[in-house]
Amino acid sequence: MSKTIRIGIIGCGAIGAEHAKALAQVDGAQIAGCCDLTMARAEEYARTYGIGYATTEHDRIIADPDIDAIYVLTQHDSHADLCIRAARAGKHVLVEKPLALSVEDCLRVGRAVKETGVTLMTGFKMRYYDLVQRARDLMPKPLMLTMQMMDNRWPGDFWANDPVKGGGNVLSQGCHSCDLLRFMARSDPLEVYAAGGNYYQPTGVVDNVCATFKFANGVVASWVQGDCRVPAAVSKFFLQAYDADRSVTLSDRLTRMVVSTPADGVAETRSSETGFVEENRAFIHALQNGLTAPIDHRDGLFATLMVLQAFASIRSGKPEPIAALMAELAG
Ligand SMILES: NC(=O)c1ccc[n+]([C@@H]2O[C@H](COP(=O)([O-])OP(=O)(O)OC[C@H]3O[C@@H](n4cnc5c(N)ncnc54)[C@H](O)[C@@H]3O)[C@@H](O)[C@H]2O)c1
Repeated sequence: MSKTIRIGIIGCGAIGAEHAKALAQVDGAQIAGCCDLTMARAEEYARTYGIGYATTEHDRIIADPDIDAIYVLTQHDSHADLCIRAARAGKHVLVEKPLALSVEDCLRVGRAVKETGVTLMTGFKMRYYDLVQRARDLMPKPLMLTMQMMDNRWPGDFWANDPVKGGGNVLSQGCHSCDLLRFMARSDPLEVYAAGGNYYQPTGVVDNVCATFKFANGVVASWVQGDCRVPAAVSKFFLQAYDADRSVTLSDRLTRMVVSTPADGVAETRSSETGFVEENRAFIHALQNGLTAPIDHRDGLFATLMVLQAFASIRSGKPEPIAALMAELAG
């Protein structure tokens, strides 16, 4: 019988609900307490998911000796501080993307993880999509990748479009895209050249970007991210991988895979949109077995840095470094 991992939730919003539903399907996971800035929301969450107590004090959750792991499911500007406080209290952490809003904050989290030895996982659920895993297995040596995530327009007054709280849709959702590119490339990105910027969002955040990444193993990747409008033909998420003579295309929110090879022609596979349950199961499994996180703070840092250096390239009009900067910063 596996050890029960007792969890404290900080942030009882939309994604908090998804994690609670996912955790209910994971053996050996139990939510012990929950916290939100709004008491009514925390209490409603506790009632809905049968949780022992609700509070507005995150330090009560973090200091609770009966809690093994903290889920940081708040707006982006509080991720770094909550992760660091949790790590210093000896708690393991699952943090939603992005790890933080700045390179400095990502590094602060990295240092706290290193100093305390806790397990910190960044919530890149898309790595767990069934067809993403299969596409990656089919392409051990990719040459070129394309990733597009084009959403419908995010409201101008949505917190995620606030430059301080959220950073805009390209940073918020683009972390998923960049993490997938790095996951599929099986290598670290050396540099990025990007164009785009703020076209219409009233808060001034970068709302659309088009970029090219070069990876250390020679893979090149093209990335389109924005919120002009979901393209009906391919859906919001669209990923393609090529090696010397094959192509793999994932469309329909990564639930349809079409593989084309000279020997076998064209083959289509369908699957469902999974991820949250598998991500939670992987985290709980790592804690139960004393393993490192399958997606750690370094992955969170790289994905954030890929987006932030694309923004730097938009400003400079030149390619900007990624891996070298990461080495220098992490030094
Ligand atoms: N992985 C995914 O597919 C996915 C999808 C959507 C959102 N997200 C991420 O999940 C996180 C939360 O997004 P959401 O859509 O649930 O937002 P939300 O606004 O619905 O919920 C956030 C909650 O956190 C609470 N909160 C904020 N600061 C707090 C603090 N210091 N202490 C306690 N509670 C605090 C807010 O009151 C709110 O209830 C973000 O990082 C977002 O990018 C991930």
